[in-house]
Amino acid sequence: MPKILVLPGDGIGVEVTEVTLEVLATIGVNHEIQIETENELFGGSSIDVNGVPVTNEVLEKAKSSDAVLLGAVGGPKWDNLEYEIRPEKGLLALRKELGTFANLRPAVVYSALNDASTLKKEIIDGVDIMVIRELTGGIYFGTPRGIEKLPNGEERGINTLLYETSEIERVARIAFQIARKRRKKVTSIDKANVLEVMELWKKTVTRIGKDEFPDVKLDHLYVDNAAMQLIRRPKSFDVILADNMFGDIISDEAAQLTGSLGMLPSASIGEEGAIYEPVHGSAPDICGKNTANPTASILSLAMLLRYSLNMDEAAQEIEMAITNVLSKGYRTADIYEEGTKKVGCKEIGKLIIEEFKNQH
Ligand code: IPM
Ligand code: MN
Repeated sequence: MPKILVLPGDGIGVEVTEVTLEVLATIGVNHEIQIETENELFGGSSIDVNGVPVTNEVLEKAKSSDAVLLGAVGGPKWDNLEYEIRPEKGLLALRKELGTFANLRPAVVYSALNDASTLKKEIIDGVDIMVIRELTGGIYFGTPRGIEKLPNGEERGINTLLYETSEIERVARIAFQIARKRRKKVTSIDKANVLEVMELWKKTVTRIGKDEFPDVKLDHLYVDNAAMQLIRRPKSFDVILADNMFGDIISDEAAQLTGSLGMLPSASIGEEGAIYEPVHGSAPDICGKNTANPTASILSLAMLLRYSLNMDEAAQEIEMAITNVLSKGYRTADIYEEGTKKVGCKEIGKLIIEEFKNQH
């Protein structure tokens, strides 16, 4: 029986995950499968109880599960702690421990939500981008790092951006493989005009493309230009490949193209496991009010079914259920507009479950 470790985390992470687990519980209605789940503390909620954002026991459980379903971490309560025990550190430790080197962040504009974006309709209608972000290397993990005192009384902050060839190769392969199943186009992002490590990035991606994926079109953009082109001509992008930090930034920009952060799921895949989580954060301001949008979390479950459990049909049914609920005019507060029907987190979950059951 497949095993999923559930880490709701903090803030609205808890509410949206609860709804997603209700969707998961109905899977057996359409598909003959039983999935075992276990809940654990993570992030701030783990700090409160255990003093650390993630315990070794939870890391071990994550490793022995088929996948991890995560909510969100962090909140003002834990913002002033030392870096080492902040909620975010738990997330980084989990990624590193599971070796999830490729982070998949789809940014899809739903036609029912065409008006939600801050960009003009004609620019974003039909946007369907997959950002592949390197997730376990680069400046996030490079050493030396820290803040040191200098003899003259000043301080010096240090972080290190480094990549080895094999780290670039493996994430590039994922990007090309995914592009093959889509529109066969990869745009690799770098800053090779200034940084040597990015020259290696560009050179390596180019070689992998040429040798192993000659059927996929590859182009390169400097990150500053990419940020600009992404709001200028978003429809021309298919798969975007970026390192850890540029991918962090570009994926937020891609998310905002859709105007609905509450709709975007993500998958982090790699060597020893996989993590599925909404792109949005813990949103402390709306936590506990039943107004959060659980769609991103439910779509993350769909990605989990597709990539970790090979249940493509169930994934499609969930995605279709969401599209149907939207086209019937139901909206959570984040995507509400006049003339649509505003519903809460739990209510939209129920509507999605009803649609999902009707798919068979
Ligand atoms: C993300 C977040 C994280 C990151 C933070 C919370 C550590 O911004 O998943 O994009 O920077 O990777
Ligand atoms: Mn981010």
